[in-house]
Amino acid sequence: MCGIVGFTGNVPADKILIDGLKKLEYRGYDSAGVALAYPGRLDVIRRTGKVAVLEEALSNDEHASCCGIGHTRWATHGRPSETNAHPHIDCHGNIAIVHNGIIENFVALRDELIAEGHTFRSQTDTEVVAHLLERYYEGDLVAAMRKATQQLQGAYGIAAVCVDAPDQIVVTRKDSPIVIGMSDGDVKGSFIGSDMIALLEYTRDAIFLDDGQIALLRPNSIEVFDRSGKTVEPTWTHVDWDAENAEHAGYPDFMLKEIYEQPRAVRDTIAGCVKNGEVILDELTLDDEDIAAIDSVYIIGCGTSYHAGLVARELIEGWARIPTTVDVASEFRYRNPIVTPSTLVIAISQSGETADTLAAVRLARSKGAKVFAVTNVVGSRITRESDGAFYVKANMEISVAATKSFLAQIACLSLIAMFLAQKKHRLTSNQVASLYSDLCETPSQIEAILENQNEIEEAAELISKAHSAMYVGRGIGATICKEGALKLKEISYLHAEAYAAGELKHGPIALLDENVPVVAVVTDSPTRMQTLSNVQEALARGSHIVAVATEGDTEVSEIADYVLYIPRTRDWCSAITASVPLQLLARHVALKRGCDVDHPRNLAKSVTVE
Ligand code: AGP
Repeated sequence: MCGIVGFTGNVPADKILIDGLKKLEYRGYDSAGVALAYPGRLDVIRRTGKVAVLEEALSNDEHASCCGIGHTRWATHGRPSETNAHPHIDCHGNIAIVHNGIIENFVALRDELIAEGHTFRSQTDTEVVAHLLERYYEGDLVAAMRKATQQLQGAYGIAAVCVDAPDQIVVTRKDSPIVIGMSDGDVKGSFIGSDMIALLEYTRDAIFLDDGQIALLRPNSIEVFDRSGKTVEPTWTHVDWDAENAEHAGYPDFMLKEIYEQPRAVRDTIAGCVKNGEVILDELTLDDEDIAAIDSVYIIGCGTSYHAGLVARELIEGWARIPTTVDVASEFRYRNPIVTPSTLVIAISQSGETADTLAAVRLARSKGAKVFAVTNVVGSRITRESDGAFYVKANMEISVAATKSFLAQIACLSLIAMFLAQKKHRLTSNQVASLYSDLCETPSQIEAILENQNEIEEAAELISKAHSAMYVGRGIGATICKEGALKLKEISYLHAEAYAAGELKHGPIALLDENVPVVAVVTDSPTRMQTLSNVQEALARGSHIVAVATEGDTEVSEIADYVLYIPRTRDWCSAITASVPLQLLARHVALKRGCDVDHPRNLAKSVTVE
């Protein structure tokens, strides 16, 4: 969603802000702007459309300011326009702010401020913050920020600059991430970002600001204050990501690059986690007594992370025999789920910042459950609000369509399932060693799939011309279908449905004809024959078939129009391998339909609002 950057240092800020905003483009936005601070003056430049348009506008003039803030906006209140783009300023143009999140009580605040004589220019919820700062500013922007945020309800990451201290940035947050760092290389100074990626070129050591903290950034120092205004010693976190990861590295798009990074993501995630048949998961800080007391598992997540949870349920129930429920976080948070202190809750989130998942984590903890996060982002909010965190080692994921994080999540969750099964005495060391050895095969199997992509292009051609596609499979295959259909919808804007194959005849088969192709996952599994029968039913209605099947499966090739083969593997490992052809298929369809795979419309990488 929206992105924030800021810099105060020894060189002009405009280029640094533009570079930072470009790094945040992947998150999705519709307009962009910067505010550059000078003694007695702020220059605010905003444009709709891409950051490149803003860059072009900035290039028309010299900008000597070494301090500024920048923003990419994803419209929530007020349509995308230059007036609604951030930064927003107070009545006199003395204070400029950028904001991520939503101010829920903005209508009441705006009415109050208008009654006091403030003039509003935009339709946004954000502008109230600029006017609140104006109301409370008496020469100390940190104090004004403290008073202003006491009035706010909702989620926010806010950065502000002021003409009276044009080399300072004041920043705060609640339920919306803010990262701060310093560099003393050629570019010396203090940086902020709503995402670590904006800082990576300059530093890998960062402060992930806590809710309610306010930071004051100067070119040579960072001070952090708590809610009461007391100085606090910030915690610095080292982030093990490469700046190069944010580059295309010769690939036409990030999605393809990240699909090709999957073997490494899985390898890195599982490396060294099983020794002599013992699963070693130090992150799961539960002693034997705690584990013995676990009588149920609840898994929560959204989108692709939710799909990883569905796979995990199969594994946890299958191996550990613990009843497991999987729920989308946006539903979980508003129900009264049966979660008790003996429920183990697993929250899955690539970004670690998804608002719904965070709210679900808080609810589960309030019910006394231990919550463990499975995430890709060190220092993210969900990890800090959980009892422990497993980091998948996917490295930075930029494409909005999650790929490598999904495979790494499944790999990580399979280790958790093995761990629980072992602790519950449902799996012996030999069985664990054998499962782990199967898991260790998957990276090279993914490599084989990537090397041999025949028929994917042709299958994509077929699907790209359809108006809808039906994905069917059973067991693990049914979940892989859900994820495959989500990928297709996200990046090609083509309607797709995913159904457990056995459900077809209970309704959705009515949709099938020669214009609705069926994508069937018919890999080696205990229900392969039943799925094949369902494929026959689809064939009989005239549907064209694209199948994902095991190498050498001639029975499938006889009835399918196109077959995307995967190497022979255990059924549960196909959750990892069979996903790959479906990711590639979705990407090819998107390209054939002229879509920008890395910037799908209406979507954001990290959904930090409800
Ligand atoms: C995946 O391709 C999507 N972009 C989306 O469904 C995503 O998985 C979801 O928003 C959850 O994000 P998270 O894993 O960062 O919590």
